[in-house]
Amino acid sequence: MKNHDIVEKNIGLMVVLIVVAISFGGLVEIVPQFFIKETTQPIKGLMPLDAVTLEGRDIYIREGCHVCHTQMVRPLRAEVERYGHYSVAGESVYEHPFLWGSKRTGPDLARVGGRYSDAWHRAHLYNPRNVVPESNMPSFPWLFDNFLDGKDTPKKMSALRSVGVPYTDEDIAGAEEAAKGVTEIDALVAYLQQLGILLKQKR
Ligand code: HEC
Repeated sequence: MKNHDIVEKNIGLMVVLIVVAISFGGLVEIVPQFFIKETTQPIKGLMPLDAVTLEGRDIYIREGCHVCHTQMVRPLRAEVERYGHYSVAGESVYEHPFLWGSKRTGPDLARVGGRYSDAWHRAHLYNPRNVVPESNMPSFPWLFDNFLDGKDTPKKMSALRSVGVPYTDEDIAGAEEAAKGVTEIDALVAYLQQLGILLKQKR
């Protein structure tokens, strides 16, 4: 009782003790995260994106695809039946920034790789109404006219390497040549076609 009186009558001491109590609560939640390998280990077969798909990913970000599309299948029955295997952390370890998203105007794209042909994607991105008459997705016709020059691709790869994506010196050295002259639509479709294919699809 006496100790309690001291704490209650001494606001400075009380603040210190409150901070200690809260930090302890925080540490118990945060520290174990550093030791959970599951969230930092790539799943089997995961490779860094090659020069063209990496540029495709940047086009995906530039055009705001992630604003309408998530890349995160939640472990709920309805989602798994519709999209395929739920997303796991090990799929995203090379993603900087990750594109999980939270707003689904269109369907989730985490497992869209291999679901449609390249020709379907091209027709769809040129004008979604070509293949899905009721679609309200915007058209992206300029992707067919724009070419990559590959100038920044090696720098992008080096930057990603500095945060742990295992690009080799050869990957970086060959990146400009590999991306140069490719149309933006080809890069974007290549990116879409490899999304989520490592974990088996349901449909
Ligand atoms: C304004 C919101 C919006 C934006 C921005 C948008 N989409 Fe869509 N997307 C949709 C809607 C709605 C659908 C469902 C109708 C359809 O298939 O066209 C869709 C469907 C799709 C599908 C078919 C998915 C499936 O499983 O059937 C793909 C692939 C796709 N979008 C890719 C893209 C890409 C790539 C971009 C960026 C270049 C993009 N979308 C931008 C709204 C959007």
